Amino acid sequence: MAQQGILVTGGAGYIGSHVVRQLGEAGHRIVVLDNLSTGFKEAVLHGELIIGNTGDQPLVSQILKDHDIGAVLHFAANIVVPESVSDPMKYYGNNTCNTRNLLDCCQKAGVSHFIFSSTAAVYGIPDELPASEETPLVPINPYGTSKLMSEWMLRDLAAVCDLSYVVLRYFNVAGANVEGLIGQSTPEATHLIKVACEVATGAREQVAIFGTDYPTEDGTGVRDYIHVDDLASAHLKALDYLRNGGESTTLNCGYGSGFSVRQVLNSVEKCHGSPLKIVEEPRRAGDPPALIAAASKIRETLGWQPKYNDLDLITQTALDWEKKVQAKKKGH
Ligand code: UD1
Repeated sequence: MAQQGILVTGGAGYIGSHVVRQLGEAGHRIVVLDNLSTGFKEAVLHGELIIGNTGDQPLVSQILKDHDIGAVLHFAANIVVPESVSDPMKYYGNNTCNTRNLLDCCQKAGVSHFIFSSTAAVYGIPDELPASEETPLVPINPYGTSKLMSEWMLRDLAAVCDLSYVVLRYFNVAGANVEGLIGQSTPEATHLIKVACEVATGAREQVAIFGTDYPTEDGTGVRDYIHVDDLASAHLKALDYLRNGGESTTLNCGYGSGFSVRQVLNSVEKCHGSPLKIVEEPRRAGDPPALIAAASKIRETLGWQPKYNDLDLITQTALDWEKKVQAKKKGH
C-alpha cells in the first residue's frame, strides 16, 4: 500500500516551511494548509498548498479524506508572547480552539499520528534550570496557556482513540536554511535575532534590550536558541518514530545551553562586522528571566542529533537570509 499523506498546517510559515522542505526532500507526500496570515506561498517548496484555516472543519475533513492523510503536523498558530498578553482571545481562538477543531476532524477521519508544535512557554518561570519535560507546567502568559491546553486536548483524545502523538516543546527557534533557500520572512517580527538582523541590514534603526535587571549573569534574558533546520529534522525523526509504533510522548527541543540577550547581540555584531545601535528598555510583559532545555530525552527517544549547535552559525544564517529579504524588498 502507498504511504499515506502528511498534512502540514502552517507549512508556509517559518518553521513549517523548513519542515516541508525536509519532508519533500525525503520523498514524503505532503499537503500544506495555511491561511497565509503570516506565511508565504513561495516558502512552500514541496507538496500541494491549500489556502484556508485550520479551524475550518468542513475544509479540513475534506482534505483528510481526499488526500488519505495518515499523519498531521500542526504548526499553524500565533506565537508572539507580548501580543498574547495584550490580545489573549486571539491566542485562545487561533491556537486552542482551532487545535480543538483540527483534532475533532482527525478523530473522525481516523488519523493515526499527530505531531504538535508546543513551546517552552508552558513551563513559565521554572524553579530549576534546565527545564525537563517533568518540570511543572505553570505558563505565565496566554500564549503558553493556549499551547498547554492544546497539549492536554491531544493527550485526552489519544487516550480514547487510535492516535499516537509527539508533542515537541520548542525553545527559541532561530536561523535560516544554510543553503539560503528559505528563512524567516514574518513582517513586523518581534523576535530577538530577527530584529537584530533587521538592524544590521538597515531595515530598522535600533534594537532594544528588554530588561537589564533580570537575575541572570549579565542581567538580560537568557534563552536556549535552536537552529530551525535542527528543529525541522526533529519532526522527521518524530514521524519515523510514530510510524514505527513509538508511544505517545512529549519532548523538549533545545540544545541545553542558554545565551543572554547581550550575548546574542554580540554574536550578530560579530557576524555583521560592526556594532548595532542598541538601547536599554524595561522588561517586556510575559517574559520569563531564563529558559533552558534539559535536552537529553529527545536524543534518547528519537535518536536526534543536532547539526547546527553554534550561536554564531545561527545568527550568520539569519543575517544572510535577512540580506536576501531586504534586497528583494528593494527590487534587486
Ligand atoms: C520565543 C518564541 C515563542 C516560544 C519561546 C520559547 C517567537 C516570536 N517567540 O519567545 O513562540 O514559545 O521563544 O522560549 O519566536 N528581546 C529583546 N529585544 C527584542 C526582542 C526580544 O531584548 O527586540 C529579549 C526578550 O525579552 C527575551 C529574548 O530576547 O529575553 C528572546 O525574546 P524573543 O526572541 O521575542 O522570544 P521569546 O519571547 O523567548
